[in-house]
Amino acid sequence: MARYRYPQPAPSEITPREIWQQRRRLMQAGALAATGLALPFGARAAQADALAPLPAQTNAEFSTMEKVTDRSHATTYNNFYEFGLDKADPHRLAGKMQISPWAVQVVGQVAKPQTFDIDDLLALAPMQERIYRLRCVEGWSMVIPWIGYPLSHLLDKVEPTGNAKYIAFYTDMQPETMPGLRSTVLDWPYREGLRMDEAMHPLTLLTFGMYGEVLPNQNGAPVRLVVPWKYGFKSAKSIVTIQVTEQQPTSSWMQAAPREYGFYSNVNPKVSHPRWSQAMERRIGEGGLFAPRRPTLMFNGYEEQVASMYAGMDLAKYY
Ligand code: MTE
Repeated sequence: MARYRYPQPAPSEITPREIWQQRRRLMQAGALAATGLALPFGARAAQADALAPLPAQTNAEFSTMEKVTDRSHATTYNNFYEFGLDKADPHRLAGKMQISPWAVQVVGQVAKPQTFDIDDLLALAPMQERIYRLRCVEGWSMVIPWIGYPLSHLLDKVEPTGNAKYIAFYTDMQPETMPGLRSTVLDWPYREGLRMDEAMHPLTLLTFGMYGEVLPNQNGAPVRLVVPWKYGFKSAKSIVTIQVTEQQPTSSWMQAAPREYGFYSNVNPKVSHPRWSQAMERRIGEGGLFAPRRPTLMFNGYEEQVASMYAGMDLAKYY
């Protein structure tokens, strides 16, 4: 039931996540040396909504060992305001979004501006599976096995110029399928931005799939961003334009509420949102509303990898 073509590594090259996570746990316990124990991908149980599988090499180095959130939560409790403000709206309504054909244009401060058909984007670099924490600014979090490759691979292709300082992402607008566009809570299209070094950081993932399959529409099909050390709203869904700029872009959220949402939006337990603390979070799927909350980690737990990009910056000012 493929909705579009996707690269197909040999099944023998793929190790299912459950297997490598288990293997890594064993290795950490000293019980198992590195082995070539690859199993075929196919054994995974079919999902109810039958999306195409998206085979990927697991990237253990960039993956957390925390328990993965059930797919049923990650695909039914969503923020995708184009479909409405309720967490259930995207799952209920995004099925109608047209995701084929799809192209992403890369423009602005680049030597080689280009429009990439989604098939060409999918084939641009080998797919990796990475298990990242996703921390939403609202105070909840999930652990999701994403599939994609570093955004830097795409940016390298278009050759940013010496004036390339920032990068802006524009997401799709489909008035016929997206009832949320009638709302005035945000200025459409949904826009986000990163500084160039953040965009080139190896953790920044151009994402095409999750849980072994292509992205469900409600999670941002066919291509989205995942920036795991920033609040979830930086991870723009259903991207159609990437613009490399000299000036810092204004995101939809900054425009809507500048005191509440800054350009950086790095996860930071010490910098409160004006209306609530960010010190703690609720992990979705962990025992409901009465489950103990857990402390939020600096840069969402990616401090070692990303803190140097913000050395000397006052993170309360640049929130
Ligand atoms: N992208 C678009 N185009 N529209 C949105 O409303 N919401 C953001 C982000 N990307 C949003 C978006 C927010 S607030 C979050 S928390 C994440 O998507 C949620 O991603 P998920 O539903 O896959 O967990």
